[in-house]
Amino acid sequence: MKAPVIVAACAGLAALALAGRPAAVGAQGAASPELTTQCASCHALAKPTDATLDRLWSRKGPDLWYAGDKFNRDWLVAWLQNPTTIRPGGVLWFKHAKPGDPRDTIDTAAVEKHPKVDAATAGRLADALLQLKSGLVTDGAYNPASANMTMGKLAFSKLRGCVACHQDQAGQGGLSGPELYDAGRRLRADYVIAYTKNPQQFDPHVWMPTPTLSEPDLQRLTGYIVSLGKEDK
Ligand code: HEC
Ligand code: HEC
Repeated sequence: MKAPVIVAACAGLAALALAGRPAAVGAQGAASPELTTQCASCHALAKPTDATLDRLWSRKGPDLWYAGDKFNRDWLVAWLQNPTTIRPGGVLWFKHAKPGDPRDTIDTAAVEKHPKVDAATAGRLADALLQLKSGLVTDGAYNPASANMTMGKLAFSKLRGCVACHQDQAGQGGLSGPELYDAGRRLRADYVIAYTKNPQQFDPHVWMPTPTLSEPDLQRLTGYIVSLGKEDK
């Protein structure tokens, strides 16, 4: 029974690291006390100074230091009350992958359920999360006028290979990246374009390749991704 000791030690270290660090650098504000006490044990709320593989390996939840660039408020409020699976294999899918023939599968039962909160708490947490900005996302970078759904879908599923790691419909696509079939409700378009252009600036160890995409390609892909999961497709 070694695991709980390690987990406790990691939580302790994270708390120490947070306590010793000045308020988030470059962000618009430090994380609220409610976020820090309930969420910091699994989520980075300020840009991590540690870019080592050890941090990647011990990371228990996705980084939230750029949550204010990333999420739509309505989605956050609903999801925090009723969390659904976004990463079918958890934060590190290879920890749950089972080698198989012809392809690897993921032991989804081994992925833990997310803590739930009530509506009032979800609203407060969402507001606090939306304060956390990275400075990496430009408002208005996505231009809806240039969207072309047919070309966007083709780029996503065939030409640019995104579907190898992401699902654009439930049950269709790769499992190692977050699902994108409700991306239109979950993610802000300006974040989608910034992330697709250069994922490593958000996460130096992410295994999403930095694709060489032209500006029209980026616009089309973003237009397609943010149309997913919206009622009025
Ligand atoms: C025990 C660890 C743990 C704690 C505590 C925790 N989370 Fe999470 N959180 C996770 C994991 C793991 C995921 C990824 C779930 C998935 O992708 O299916 C996640 C995902 C999220 C997401 C979606 C992130 C994304 O990039 O898709 C949000 C938002 C979030 N958590 C907010 C919170 C908030 C707010 C709190 C505090 C009330 C909290 N979490 C506490 C582990 C945790
Ligand atoms: C080799 C696998 C892989 C490929 C191929 C790939 N991605 Fe990703 N993608 C990832 C991973 C891993 C993440 C981030 C994981 C995390 O946040 O936990 C990610 C994150 C994203 C995000 C941010 C989603 C979020 O919830 O924060 C977007 C948008 C995205 N990818 C778009 C694309 C597009 C567009 C393509 C094709 C040009 C693509 N990806 C190709 C693995 C991949």
